[in-house]
Amino acid sequence: MTTRLVQTRAELRGALANRDGEIGVVMTMGALHDGHRELIRVARRRCAVIVVTVFLNPLQFAPGEDLSRYPKTLETDVELCAAEDVDLVFAPSVVEVYPLGDQPQVRVQAGPLGEILEGDSRPGHFDGVLTVVAKLLHLTGPDVAYFGQKDAQQLLLIRRMCQDLDFPVEVVAVPTVRDPDGLALSSRNTYLTAADRDAALTLSGALHAGRSVAGHGPAAVLAAAHEVLGGEKSVGLDYLALVDPVHLRPVPEDYAGEALLAVAARVGSTRLIDNVMVTFGAAA
Ligand code: PAJ
Repeated sequence: MTTRLVQTRAELRGALANRDGEIGVVMTMGALHDGHRELIRVARRRCAVIVVTVFLNPLQFAPGEDLSRYPKTLETDVELCAAEDVDLVFAPSVVEVYPLGDQPQVRVQAGPLGEILEGDSRPGHFDGVLTVVAKLLHLTGPDVAYFGQKDAQQLLLIRRMCQDLDFPVEVVAVPTVRDPDGLALSSRNTYLTAADRDAALTLSGALHAGRSVAGHGPAAVLAAAHEVLGGEKSVGLDYLALVDPVHLRPVPEDYAGEALLAVAARVGSTRLIDNVMVTFGAAA
């Protein structure tokens, strides 16, 4: 089976017509790495047809963010998809996705869960994400859509959108893929200098340190993570939060069950995010 690159809605529709079996979609902004590869592999194990979308969505970037320098590597992205036996790569232009202009009047609103954590640091970001995800779900018509736990709040909001707005798709979460030293893979890691990369290990190091003291409760987890982050002066902490995985509210000291320990920080000129799940109390 060869991998086909399609760039228009019409080509996509034609390529998907008369396909049998479940369609799985993996949505990306390109600059594919082994995290994206893992999403494709998980999809490939189940679905008959795999569509990977590659679209750098301007709507989810605020002015001054890294839209203009975001890495663009379509040729090698298609090669990675071919190596993973992807059926279709849908890489549309901005005009193809937003034919009436890239500031659509009608958008998906993420609501309160989109205004905290990442949404607090990046106002409007999740409205832009959900709007393009909704459009790409309509265009690709998948049975299953795969998203990474790396972007935990995004995953939660996409699940909520599909429930709240009745999208007929199953959303499947895929665990975060990391380099052997712990750094979560990200297309933005290409911005890091060697020194930045060392400093960036503080993020996963802090999450790990926090999780390792879960037996002592939430305050101890946050303290341990803060201690690691505080030890690296070149990391500009944006937030460190320990929240329940449904409402993203800070967990109380007597919390039992799974919580999300999430961090966002600036390392050099690069903003990175990471998270782990931490189990407290009786469920531990
Ligand atoms: P992008 O950052 O390219 O990520 C595409 C998908 O890959 C997301 O579901 C993300 O969570 C997942 N991913 C990224 N790094 C990962 C890692 N280290 N391990 C596992 N999965 C990882 O997220 C987006 O693009 C966009 O917001 C998008 C959903 C495509 C909408 O534009």
